[in-house]
Amino acid sequence: MYLGLDLGTSGLKAVVIDEHQMLRAEASAPLSVQRPHPGWSEQDPSDWVAAAERVLTALKSKIDMSAITGIGLSGQMHGAVMLDAAHTTLRPAILWNDTRAHEEAAELDQRAGVRETTGNIVFPGFTAPKLLWTQRHEPQHFEACHLVLLPKDYLRLWLTGEAVTEPSDASGTAWFDVAARTWSPMLLSECDLEPAQMPRIVEGNAVSAGIRRGIADAFGLRENTPVAGGAGDNAAAAIGMGVIAPGQAFLSLGTSGVLFAASDGFRPASETSVHAFAHALPGTWHQMGVILAATDALNWLATLLDAEPDHLTANLGPLQPPGRALFLPYLGGERTPHNDAAVRGAFLGLEHQTDRAAAVRAVLEGVAFAVADCQDALAATGTTLGDVVAVGGGSRSAAWLDIMATTLGVPINVPAAGETGAAFGAARLGLMAATGAGPSALTAPPTARTVEPRRDLVQAFSDAHARYRQAYTAIRPY
Ligand code: XUL
Repeated sequence: MYLGLDLGTSGLKAVVIDEHQMLRAEASAPLSVQRPHPGWSEQDPSDWVAAAERVLTALKSKIDMSAITGIGLSGQMHGAVMLDAAHTTLRPAILWNDTRAHEEAAELDQRAGVRETTGNIVFPGFTAPKLLWTQRHEPQHFEACHLVLLPKDYLRLWLTGEAVTEPSDASGTAWFDVAARTWSPMLLSECDLEPAQMPRIVEGNAVSAGIRRGIADAFGLRENTPVAGGAGDNAAAAIGMGVIAPGQAFLSLGTSGVLFAASDGFRPASETSVHAFAHALPGTWHQMGVILAATDALNWLATLLDAEPDHLTANLGPLQPPGRALFLPYLGGERTPHNDAAVRGAFLGLEHQTDRAAAVRAVLEGVAFAVADCQDALAATGTTLGDVVAVGGGSRSAAWLDIMATTLGVPINVPAAGETGAAFGAARLGLMAATGAGPSALTAPPTARTVEPRRDLVQAFSDAHARYRQAYTAIRPY
């Protein structure tokens, strides 16, 4: 059996699959985000370990853990975990949707050779500017920093005692030469850092290290069980859905929203805010557009209305053309296509008739328009989408998928019940590392149903998208 662990922003999820890739057990534990100041987003790595202990304990009560022969890791990308020489965390992890380092990001982005080497804009949420911010604002932490890890790699350190990462997650640091799939000494020196402060790199489907004795004893795993390199959560989800060849794409509606397309090589296009990153298999790359608040926007409204997000979307009825109410989901700034840490969300066009359902629809539509902006950014690089597979918690909402398909103008495939997400992709990478299986193991999940765009409403959604874009220019705070 093979175990996949996905360290998400709102929770840690584990799945166990057998040699036929059938689900044998799963478990999850929730996580919360701390926002001590506007624009900040942090988690304490000790909470990740506590969540991992909970899911491994839950799995131990369901299956024979000693039958697990391969493990894969996946997780939220870009987070900065700073450790001292004893591998003690120096401060809470600064997460992917934290924009405090926007000034440092802009500075780094303009330095000669930076974009050329990373192939990407240095976004405030990427790892490098967070270290520059720490150097300026918490010099004691910067000086004591011996090792910088990405979130899932902190779990690997706990599981194996080894500091290792892999190219897909390293691509989001702005210290990585994405074409060459190695750390860039030049990019690191721009932040007064050295390659020795970075984890070793292995490919996502290669063995990174083995489970250490203490963990094996605590959870009934076998000592030295191989742990694969794994992948950042988006590349891992792609592995879970078999999205590895050009023309294949998926839409993820999780805390963030992601439109992900596998590419035929490294295709940097930083002028568009599209991310060009290494994929989880050797010699493969992908592109993606990322918005910072997808289900996060719906959850925000649900908290405000004191309601469950699923209840809010359950009774919206058949697809309607967008009304006057317009929502911009920039609750913590935006990544693709604006790279704007300062903008904030907005409700516009409210009228006496705007009721709860109209507000919910506006939020779902606003997120769809933000994803459509990612689609346009991808198109500007020459990447067009055929069919798109939907994953993530938001894809459980039929109303949201109707809105998405009609806004994007493409059919959206809903996978049949079963595992498709990042934890499943991580388990697949664990299987590949343990058995040497090749990409033929990465089959696409069967499609349960296809959500077609409502052709009669495509124009109405396109008009509303145009209003949405104008609204962004009107509410920009500068
Ligand atoms: C990707 C990104 C998010 C996180 C969420 O660039 O920032 O999708 O990986 O977990």
